[in-house]
Amino acid sequence: MTTDVRLPDSLVPAYARLPVEFVRGEGARLWDAEGNEYLDLQTGLAVNSVGHCHPAVVRAVTEQAQRLIHVGNLFHTRPAAELAERLASSSLGGRVHFANSGTEANEAALKMARKAKQGGTIVSVRRAFHGRTYGSLSATPQESKQAPFAPLVPGFIAVAPTAEAVRAAVDERTAAVILEPIQGESGVYELGEELLRAAREACDEFGAALIFDEVQCGLGRTGRLWAYEHYGVKPDLMTVAKALGGGLPIGAVVTGERFAEGFEPGDHGSTFAGGPVQCAAGLAVMDVVSDPELLAVVRERGERVAARLADLPGVVEVRGRGYMLAAELAPDRAESAPELVRRALLEQRLVLNATGPTTLRLLPPLIIDEADLDEALDRLERLLGA
Ligand SMILES: Cc1ncc(COP(=O)(O)O)c(C=O)c1O
Repeated sequence: MTTDVRLPDSLVPAYARLPVEFVRGEGARLWDAEGNEYLDLQTGLAVNSVGHCHPAVVRAVTEQAQRLIHVGNLFHTRPAAELAERLASSSLGGRVHFANSGTEANEAALKMARKAKQGGTIVSVRRAFHGRTYGSLSATPQESKQAPFAPLVPGFIAVAPTAEAVRAAVDERTAAVILEPIQGESGVYELGEELLRAAREACDEFGAALIFDEVQCGLGRTGRLWAYEHYGVKPDLMTVAKALGGGLPIGAVVTGERFAEGFEPGDHGSTFAGGPVQCAAGLAVMDVVSDPELLAVVRERGERVAARLADLPGVVEVRGRGYMLAAELAPDRAESAPELVRRALLEQRLVLNATGPTTLRLLPPLIIDEADLDEALDRLERLLGA
């Protein structure tokens, strides 16, 4: 059993790290420093959707890194222009503003909405997670994450995740409503078509921007390229990140027509955003995750995985779509979900995630083959049965 990681210890303890040092990854597999092989159903929290070190990503990154790594946003580069075109044409049809992460993509979207309606309020719903920087954190109404860092940004309103509550919160002062179509970090909760539609109608009525945060649920994770496609409700602004860089840091705001001119020079920016290496990786990722056959496999196998999860000992509820799934464990189970995740890693060589004391989250790579997926579920079954 790998439990002893002998590394320098100078990192601020901001993360509860598990006692494994990973040194290599390929597809759905990871290897630790002692040579043990693992199956990964966590994918660096929905980042490695095309698997670890996908050959097309490695090739694109290597070739680009040999030509040009950074030049900044005062010039054009082809990878950024092409990735922007690809993202916009596959979704909202407007334009793209690049960032370096999910939280930064949300900051940019919130600023665009506020600029369009200055002084306006931002509505978000409980259980949301939009990131850790101050704007995104202010739209993340979770006491444990917000309280130590108060005061937050003014003008944010949190309401219950229901159609009625969202409708009631939106009025002529509202600049934006920000929603994850499927809430990830709080345990994979679908907001549902009724809520999304109510938000769309309220935003239309009062000239507010509807922002969908697809940082986690976008890019094929749910078996559609964009999660909003399941519900037939389009936002004005959509944020993406996580899987987009194949493991490299990149985020983006995609706009519809209305916000295509959402910023002008001087409004907002970032030194690194939209760098050619990240964008070259993004183009390779888009090729993989846009494949309709892959998306159909994720939808269909996702349903089978959900059904199998529901039959596992101690699982009382399964939530989610495609390869974004949560298994809710019986609250009286002696072992918590984080303890289970630790045992899965060390005993079964299975990489999982817990979003809370009773919630396991599964985020398999979209490219995982059937045999590996079945093997991973067999390991989970052994674990839950033990
Ligand atoms: C829906 C959603 N939005 C935003 C973020 C923040 O992304 P990042 O950690 O890249 O800042 C996350 C991260 O988990 C997320 O799941």
